[in-house]
Amino acid sequence: MLDLASLLLAALLTLLLLLQTRGFMKRALHTAVPERLLSREAERASVCSFLEEKVLQRLPGSLYISGAPGTGKTACLNRVLQEMKAELSSVQTVLVNCMSLRSSHAIFPLLADKLRVSGGQKGLQRSLTAPGPMVLLVLDEMDQLDSKAQDVLYTVFEWPYLPQSRLCLIGIANALDLTDRILPRLQARPHCCPLLLHFPPYSRQELAAIVQDRLAQASAEGVLDASAVQFCARKVSAVSGDARKALDICRRAVELVESDERKKAGDSQSESNASRVSLPQVARVLSEVYGDRMASQSGSSEGESFPLQQKLLICCLLLLIRNGKSKEIVLGKLHEVYSRLCAQRQVSAAGQGECLSLCSLLESRGIVALKKAREARLTKVFLKIEEKDVENALKDRTLLGSILAAGLPS
Ligand SMILES: Nc1ncnc2c1ncn2[C@@H]1O[C@H](COP(=O)(O)OP(=O)(O)O)[C@@H](O)[C@H]1O
Ligand SMILES: [Mg+2]
Repeated sequence: MLDLASLLLAALLTLLLLLQTRGFMKRALHTAVPERLLSREAERASVCSFLEEKVLQRLPGSLYISGAPGTGKTACLNRVLQEMKAELSSVQTVLVNCMSLRSSHAIFPLLADKLRVSGGQKGLQRSLTAPGPMVLLVLDEMDQLDSKAQDVLYTVFEWPYLPQSRLCLIGIANALDLTDRILPRLQARPHCCPLLLHFPPYSRQELAAIVQDRLAQASAEGVLDASAVQFCARKVSAVSGDARKALDICRRAVELVESDERKKAGDSQSESNASRVSLPQVARVLSEVYGDRMASQSGSSEGESFPLQQKLLICCLLLLIRNGKSKEIVLGKLHEVYSRLCAQRQVSAAGQGECLSLCSLLESRGIVALKKAREARLTKVFLKIEEKDVENALKDRTLLGSILAAGLPS
């Protein structure tokens, strides 16, 4: 009798422990400021040196940080600000997440309030050029300041370069098209050219390391299969290299298992063994997030967007055109670069023959033109639309941006 009771108690305790670990793990997979920042050494060093060489030397300046969502821009900046808190104690630091603004012009009253200045935009300008402590202004998600007239961003980026300015500005842009449009115009003004720091997408290895590190922090390495983590990292890196997405997918998979268990426990009195989260759950979440396009990569989806393989081909074509002098690319060369890109992104590549038929599909949609040759390898492929319109045609800014930013695959 006693034995049975203690056995039950032990089973209950084990179950509680497992559930608790899972709670820990879910919290560890959060997407707030991480306790540990993995990789990103070069980017961290660049932010540090901007702070050391500008802000701490009382020199005004600006830094423009770009990168697709989830590439660690906010995490990296917050980490550095925390680490340099003591050094920055005499600097008036103002952080604004522009997402919270109702309109782009709302930035002025908000800043006036934070800096305790009256007189709106004019008052701010006067105050920032009057004697006082250095001001470090961080505008996160500054895409939101992108008004139609684009005047707000230009005004703010000009402040550090006003005579006697005491402002250092760090602007973080998530949408790569903002960088395409805004940065050239800022850099074209020699008197207020910001430093540029780009965050490339995370690789599969980096994504897996970030997720694993979080699991390790919760001492929950065993609850989520290593193979499931790898699978998730591989898929996410093939699309966007977004750490937030990788963490969200793993967390969601844990929740799925939990809700399945709750259902099972409701159905029957069976012993509710807290099971492990493995590949099938992660695959299920992945197809929820990305649709079947990701589940089967050869999917022949009609409709507005292009299948992954065709997107990758167009990206390669664009890379080759940008890197060379000619607008005509022979299929052999295109296939070679495309194969390397697929290898890099862990996507299975189509052979040269299939590649030609993919090009024909793209031709039928008016994206490219083909000049057939006797040998498939020598078929010439040209882009039939403007380079700048490719982004719209693909409806996948993130993928295109990340591939173009990385340059020709080696
Ligand atoms: N290098 C990293 N190490 C650990 N966690 C990271 C790292 N990069 C990103 N993350 C996690 O992914 C989430 C998304 O990163 P974030 O910095 O918000 O991206 P971004 O600002 O570029 O959109 C962060 O909240 C953080 O938890
Ligand atoms: Mg961010």
